[in-house]
Amino acid sequence: MRPNDLAEHHSVVAMNVIRKALEKAKISPLEISIIGYSRGPGIGQALVIGAFIARNLSVRLGKPLVGINHPLAHIEIGRKVSLSQDPVIVYVSGGNTQVITHNGRKYVVLGETLDIGIGNAQDKLGREIGLPFPAGPKLDQMRGEWIDLPYTVKGMDLSFSGLLTESIKRIKSGTRVEDVVWSFMEVAFSMIVEVAERALALTGKKEILLVGGVAASPRLRDKFNTMCNERGAKLKVPPPELSRDNGAMIAWTAILSYMIRGPDKVEESFIKPQWRIDEIQWPLINVY
Ligand code: FE2
Repeated sequence: MRPNDLAEHHSVVAMNVIRKALEKAKISPLEISIIGYSRGPGIGQALVIGAFIARNLSVRLGKPLVGINHPLAHIEIGRKVSLSQDPVIVYVSGGNTQVITHNGRKYVVLGETLDIGIGNAQDKLGREIGLPFPAGPKLDQMRGEWIDLPYTVKGMDLSFSGLLTESIKRIKSGTRVEDVVWSFMEVAFSMIVEVAERALALTGKKEILLVGGVAASPRLRDKFNTMCNERGAKLKVPPPELSRDNGAMIAWTAILSYMIRGPDKVEESFIKPQWRIDEIQWPLINVY
């Protein structure tokens, strides 16, 4: 979907989504305490619609407005539902692949993709072989024989574009699709597990929290389970509906943010499409 179509879609469905959420929660708009919304990172055209609606509701209902960092929200809802105290976080989604931890003052990114996110890499490979979006679940189930593909870990960072380009090249030159897909997934997931394992060694932490849409992959979880068992670490994965993008993660993190620093000023509530999690001073709150 192109960014302008995305903005159009969001503005068309927004009110219906809010109405349904209120119905499901069995509350009236007057019972809302805080209006939370995602400020970024993300596609500007989509963020701006969310921010516009949030400001509007805030002013109309007279409720505080709290803008939230999207990856931070994935982590905080993940920590809450899995009772995770101070984990190494592996955030794997369409646009993101990051290994994150808390340094006592804020979350810091220890390692991340230097090009595309793991989910986008999977979707591009899926498109090549005619799979519908999102391709991850189908790719996850394909089994094949091992072929050599580029494995790129640089320090604590990783890169998927060389792996993707080579995989597509191999498919076009007649290598069996199942073998390419199986090996692509093996390499991509091994790279992520390697960086996460080094993050455990570096920080001395004993917990991995896996968040983002790709966290639902059974194959990725298996690999993490094996590594965590070998290291005596615990693997925590929130249920899929709270692991992929969801409204509850923004709502919960808005409550925490309000407790930490109060409301945002409406006139300063501009979106931040490039907002990184390590730009935010954020104490590690354990209210669980
Ligand atoms: Fe997300």
